[in-house]
Amino acid sequence: MSTLETVSPRIATEPAIITEDLVRTFGEKVAVDHLNLRIDKGEIFGFLGPNGSGKSTTIKMLCGLLSPSSGKAIVSGIDVRRDAERIRSKIGYMPQKFSLYEDLTVKENIDFYSQLYGVKGPGAKRRKEEVIELVGIGHYRDFLGKQLSGGWKQRLALCCALVHQPEIIFLDEPTASMDPVARRGLWDLLFTLASSGVTLFVTTHYMDEAERCSSVGYIYNSRLIVSGGPDEIKQVREVIGQGNVHLEVVCKPLVRTFNLVKALPYVQDVTIFGQALHVVSVHPEAYQLLADDLRQSAVQVQEIREIQPSLEDVFVTLTKASMAEEEARLRDKAGKLGKAHPTGFDDEDESDA
Ligand SMILES: Nc1ncnc2c1ncn2[C@@H]1O[C@H](COP(=O)(O)OP(=O)(O)OP(=O)(O)O)[C@@H](O)[C@H]1O
Ligand SMILES: [Mg+2]
Repeated sequence: MSTLETVSPRIATEPAIITEDLVRTFGEKVAVDHLNLRIDKGEIFGFLGPNGSGKSTTIKMLCGLLSPSSGKAIVSGIDVRRDAERIRSKIGYMPQKFSLYEDLTVKENIDFYSQLYGVKGPGAKRRKEEVIELVGIGHYRDFLGKQLSGGWKQRLALCCALVHQPEIIFLDEPTASMDPVARRGLWDLLFTLASSGVTLFVTTHYMDEAERCSSVGYIYNSRLIVSGGPDEIKQVREVIGQGNVHLEVVCKPLVRTFNLVKALPYVQDVTIFGQALHVVSVHPEAYQLLADDLRQSAVQVQEIREIQPSLEDVFVTLTKASMAEEEARLRDKAGKLGKAHPTGFDDEDESDA
């Protein structure tokens, strides 16, 4: 990744994907706003962001399925605006909604996609068997598409995306309907592919999956707001707020303590995490203040310790900061126009700003 260096060792430093100020609009809506990315060969890049933030639109542009409104994207050395057709032979694409043929068997679906990708000749049969084995779907080869569960449909989708031995695979929420065991199985498979030099571009809403990636990007409101190695992103203090202190409090009763902590003036954010609270404060003495406050209440505190922020903490903090910036911008614009701004905030809200 270009914004921040990744911590994990690289398999290669040659770029697989580069975008420069990539933009896609739909009418007035800017779905992807000046996206700058560099993803090296052999990387597993995790692309995260809330619903509607622009992940699938980015993937469709990189796969040559949607033309960019402006900017540049080079995939496997090919400019997507110039030669989208050639890109498709070098990449595999597993869409968010895979359209398998319900009335064809697993094997027939794979046959269909291999013909589509021009996999033919003496090696074709062997290649199909290889992907069936790699994905572990052999047991279901004679099942009809409609007989497969959601997780197995996803695996079939991956099979179809792999059959022509692509250099780069785009997977749009591949584990969305998978149980935890199937998810882990799919990730083991992704690591196997990456270790053979394949580059993977994966969108997900799962933070544990993001932690497994060699680099991640977080897109919010169509704009990339951070990118880099998962561990590194957590270390970059200016990203999550200068001087932030992250504390974990194991205590009882949890919900009552949550409400109590939320009201403390030096606490910026608190959330329930299993049997503990995760607290964010910018106060340098937050640890001591919190310990004192909780001692004086009827809360049973088992442990308070300083922790590293999780990726979720980082993304939530960044999202809130971006939302606040956007609100300020809209208020400013509304002020200049001398009328209420378009988010529908009433006068009372505006006077609070
Ligand atoms: N074909 C289209 N026509 C008009 N607007 C579109 C089109 N495709 C996407 N959009 C809009 O672009 C924005 C980004 O959509 P996109 O599907 O890329 O989001 P996403 O991050 O993949 O969301 P999700 O997590 O829900 O899959 C959304 O506001 C969406 O409504
Ligand atoms: Mg999407």
